[in-house]
Amino acid sequence: MKIMAINGSPRRAENTARLLHKALEGAASLGAETEYIDLYPLKYKGCLSCFYCKRKDKEHGVCIVKDDLTAVLERAKQADALLFGSPIYFMNLTSGMQAFLERFFFSQYIYSREIPSVLGKTIPSAFLYTMNATEEQADAFHLKDSLAAYEWAAAGILGAKPYLFYDFNTLQFKDYSKYESSIFSEEEKRDYHEKHSAEVAEKAYELGKQLILDAQKL
Ligand SMILES: Cc1cc2nc3c(=O)[nH]c(=O)nc-3n(C[C@H](O)[C@H](O)[C@H](O)COP(=O)(O)O)c2cc1C
Repeated sequence: MKIMAINGSPRRAENTARLLHKALEGAASLGAETEYIDLYPLKYKGCLSCFYCKRKDKEHGVCIVKDDLTAVLERAKQADALLFGSPIYFMNLTSGMQAFLERFFFSQYIYSREIPSVLGKTIPSAFLYTMNATEEQADAFHLKDSLAAYEWAAAGILGAKPYLFYDFNTLQFKDYSKYESSIFSEEEKRDYHEKHSAEVAEKAYELGKQLILDAQKL
């Protein structure tokens, strides 16, 4: 079993990255092979709308754009489970994660009644989101609704509804005193983290295990 985690944060060792690694640890505890990808060091664009992937005379499911994402897309198709990690930027996935998903999902999707699935298999998946907002703030702004589009695409294209994991009220700075940040209470955030971070990390670990258990059942 192979699980691939994709980090859509430009920060390579912060909230999103840490939880993705925890989830991979969980998956590895069941013997899974793990792969971790940081998107931001890679040079790539989103979908160019060339429609090569939908041509009748070409192999379906292939994104013809050649860049740093080409090999990642091929390996993502081979994975038994996928974990998409992204900070919330302006109520949505980061542009890096959106560009990745445009390329991945659109190339696995054709406008055909006769060919409902290009992948031809189910890949259990999860979206892991980290954000500044508290759960109450996220609910007040209907954040979950604004994230629905890629989750819906994942369900259709990967063949199963993705798991959804939210890490709220994250710490953005190591030292809040260095930044204009009076809308936050660093003390309140640190207090929250002391109480919750072990539990959140444990949940991420369990998520990684769950994805492998689901993949093993297929
Ligand atoms: C450009 C930008 C936009 C952001 N927009 C939001 C937002 O809409 N809602 C929110 O709760 N947090 C927002 N944040 C905060 C990040 O989502 C949060 O700090 C996240 O945990 C960062 O993940 P990382 O530590 O893995 O980089 C934003 C951060 C940046 C840099």
